[in-house]
Amino acid sequence: MTEEKSRHMTPDEFRKYGRAVVDWIADYQERVESFPVMARTAPGDIRASLPALPPETGETFDVMLKDVEEKILPGVTHWQSPDFFAFFPSNTSGPSILGELLSAGLGIQGMLWATSPACTELETHVMDWIVSMLDLPETFRSSGAGGGVIQDSASGATLCALLAARERATDFASNAEGCDGRLVVYASSQTHSSLEKAVKIAGLGKNALRIIPVDHRYALRADALSEQIQQDRADGLIPCMVCATVGTTSSNAIDPLPRIGRICRTEGIWLHVDGAMAGTAAVCPEFRHIHNGLAAADSYCFNPHKWMFTNFDCDCFFVADRAALIQTLSILPEYLRNQATESGAVIDYRDWQVPLGRRFRALKLWFVIRHYGVEGLRLHIRRHVALAQTFAQWVDDSADFELAAPAPLNLVCFRHKGGDKVNQELMDRINKSGRLYLTHTLLDEQFTLRLCVGQTHTQARHVRQAWETISETGREIMGGGA
Ligand SMILES: Cc1ncc(COP(=O)(O)O)c(C=O)c1O
Repeated sequence: MTEEKSRHMTPDEFRKYGRAVVDWIADYQERVESFPVMARTAPGDIRASLPALPPETGETFDVMLKDVEEKILPGVTHWQSPDFFAFFPSNTSGPSILGELLSAGLGIQGMLWATSPACTELETHVMDWIVSMLDLPETFRSSGAGGGVIQDSASGATLCALLAARERATDFASNAEGCDGRLVVYASSQTHSSLEKAVKIAGLGKNALRIIPVDHRYALRADALSEQIQQDRADGLIPCMVCATVGTTSSNAIDPLPRIGRICRTEGIWLHVDGAMAGTAAVCPEFRHIHNGLAAADSYCFNPHKWMFTNFDCDCFFVADRAALIQTLSILPEYLRNQATESGAVIDYRDWQVPLGRRFRALKLWFVIRHYGVEGLRLHIRRHVALAQTFAQWVDDSADFELAAPAPLNLVCFRHKGGDKVNQELMDRINKSGRLYLTHTLLDEQFTLRLCVGQTHTQARHVRQAWETISETGREIMGGGA
């Protein structure tokens, strides 16, 4: 086929349009604050603007980029706006985006060490860096029996932890025979829903999930955990895994790892710790107390794709005993056999995750760490926490609002004193205004607003404007105004 007919983009065209895309992204970063944070399109609007059928002949890149601007951008919720305070953040940064671009450019598939040694070795190396950066237990370092791997998400990490826990609890019989209905898993009522999904996928059945009550700080009650385990043992069941959380999704509550760890060690139960958002805080020595007791964990995960300025997807998953994970997930068909694997001298990360194939995710994380330096990361994390604490103080000092939970780091849970309807109305009006984006949760059955400071570019002025908008809107609602 001639070059003309193939329609492949030539290297020169790639240079031209690649520059155009990088310029577009840089312009987007400069103007992101000017957009309403939450997309204003109605369901179906975006699809209605697109042709019903795909083009029969190829189109020019200019036209495609124009469509991004005109048809796609209106339907984008701007997670990279400094006025994004919803959910937990899902950050990007310049070095991360460029790392992602390079990863796509290299286009390698790193399922085995042999399919791109640099992909595996950089990942192992960066994961060991993370152990040092966050001062994680040495059990997670690859030089011992453990090690780290980058997963797509905290959900994927939790599923892998549960599969390994299930196998260990059954002496590696459940892979062969399936589950017999006796395995049980424990987590607090505040644990992320990804655990319930994992329990279902792992074949334990949703009823195997024991929901343990929380204390007044929304942290798991270790005494209740202990009682439930004893009850289950008495009933002939097999406790398999406890999932503790460092920074719950609703309120950033921190489960008491030292007590939970002691219970798990005594009972021989796998302890998985989910630090999806809050884990990043441990780059700062003053916040490392969140990980007190982590040394007893069998596995741990946190998401640089939330708060460490690394774009989705990037979850760091560590295990203390990699053999248990590998034994659980490894299958070696003939077509994957190779000398490096047989030598036993290399890591094949396909055995550490659910899918076979894997992207070169370590590049973007490596770039972020090298660009900011650990000190640079600390600076931003400290700023975010300080801004959230200032916001919490404003709430606490206000006559109209109150704090709904302790705010240990960068998430503030609060509510207007006017009750659920007022808070719902407040959130809806604010999000509709486009000036900022907030989301909610239920704490003690009450509608609670959540403001999370964690977007890469959020500064003091954005948090101040957010508070002004929130308090003004509260006054409007109570005064019956627009
Ligand atoms: C505590 C916690 N765990 C797990 C998750 C799921 O994260 P992911 O999207 O990486 O699966 C979240 C998401 O916000 C979370 O807050």
